[in-house]
Amino acid sequence: MNSFRLLLQTMHPRIWHCRLFLKIRANLWPFSSRADALFTPVNRHSLAGQTAHLPLNNTPSRSFWHTVILPLFCLALFVSCVAEDPDSAESVPAPETTLKEAYRDAFLIGTALNSRQISGQDASGQALAIREFNAVTAENVMKWEVIHPEPGVYNFEAADAMVDLAEKNGMFIVGHTLVWHSQTPDWVFHDEEGNRLTREALLERMKEHIDTVVGRYRGRVHGWDVVNEALLDDGALRETLWYEIIGEDYLARAFEFAHEADPGAELYYNDYSLELPEKREGAIRLVQSLQEQGAPITGLGTQGHFSLDFPSLENLEATITGFAGLGVDVMVTELEIDLLPPAFDYLGADVEMSAELRDELNPYADGLPTEVQDQLTERYKEIFGLFLKHQDKISRVTFWGVTDGDSWKNNWPVPGRTNYPLLFDREGNPKPAYHALIELAER
Ligand code: XIL
Repeated sequence: MNSFRLLLQTMHPRIWHCRLFLKIRANLWPFSSRADALFTPVNRHSLAGQTAHLPLNNTPSRSFWHTVILPLFCLALFVSCVAEDPDSAESVPAPETTLKEAYRDAFLIGTALNSRQISGQDASGQALAIREFNAVTAENVMKWEVIHPEPGVYNFEAADAMVDLAEKNGMFIVGHTLVWHSQTPDWVFHDEEGNRLTREALLERMKEHIDTVVGRYRGRVHGWDVVNEALLDDGALRETLWYEIIGEDYLARAFEFAHEADPGAELYYNDYSLELPEKREGAIRLVQSLQEQGAPITGLGTQGHFSLDFPSLENLEATITGFAGLGVDVMVTELEIDLLPPAFDYLGADVEMSAELRDELNPYADGLPTEVQDQLTERYKEIFGLFLKHQDKISRVTFWGVTDGDSWKNNWPVPGRTNYPLLFDREGNPKPAYHALIELAER
């Protein structure tokens, strides 16, 4: 079935041309009314005059059509289908397959969508996302500061557009993210006088937000990153305002509220650097504690903000297998491979960190050397080799962006750099790593 689909896909442009061919040549079809015009005495005569092997009465008959014209017609149709399309040299050739097709039997392949892709302002980015991926995550448009910027003010326009677009294209939809300490306005934690809210008041605010956002997309958004980045690298709970004001159970409450708002949605805990052994253990303890509290968590996402040497394959594998042992879905949610020198001694993805641009931090501003491109390809290959090995445990792998130009890694933690962390270059062309991953899946 798969190879049939592949064959059809490869044939697609040609099948299209065949359809055109048929349309044009419908005029010549011997049994159509237009063709019947050929059987007027004048036409018959002129045809007869030019053809040597006509029936003796010199009249083209239906059997002439069947024995001569029809086979010629079929031959012409066949040749037109298999011959090279003269236009194809100018257009970008459609790839043999796509990422989502190649990994169809392994796991979902997702991407984050930014607001330009969602609105169609970046039409080619949108088309590329639809062609290659079967899952989408809102990169920013569902974050608290965007969707609920002020008390009582919700801004659903972009989120609605993303859900519509993804639905229209049959994609799995991930809402990102409900409870986080970053990209959440300060007012969330304070009353009108600027005083910190009480536990009850903050719980109420959290519930109202979750009810409104999750409730709006009930039955449409398939999974939510309910809590994002609640852990420190040593595996302890991060002392965010959520934690300080509500206490440790803020996580369980968030999962309960989300489940009440959409009992059918998958609900995830999502974090970065979960390949660090201490942080991995912290995440495992956290999920176990949520399960003991009866919180409806269904999945655990490791973000996958990786570099050429972080994490080790051993640690990545230990994270995948360790998480799968918890009986929840495991997913890689924000994958990319950073190729630039680290600005400081830090492996994580805390969006609040930043460093100043210096020349030595931006070595590939004029292009990526071939050997680094090769390193990227090899790195993606070894990582996906592991994902494929554990495909029974992994439900989705989502890249954090479509093309290199879209990646947040051009501006974080150092603004204004030129990074190359994804599978499509700035023009949307597939990079060698893309082809290597397709080949790997088809092996
Ligand atoms: C990033 C976005 O990609 C940027 O556009 C934005 O400026 C900051 O946030 N972990 C997450 C994501 O969970 O939401 C972050 O996304 C990257 C780190």
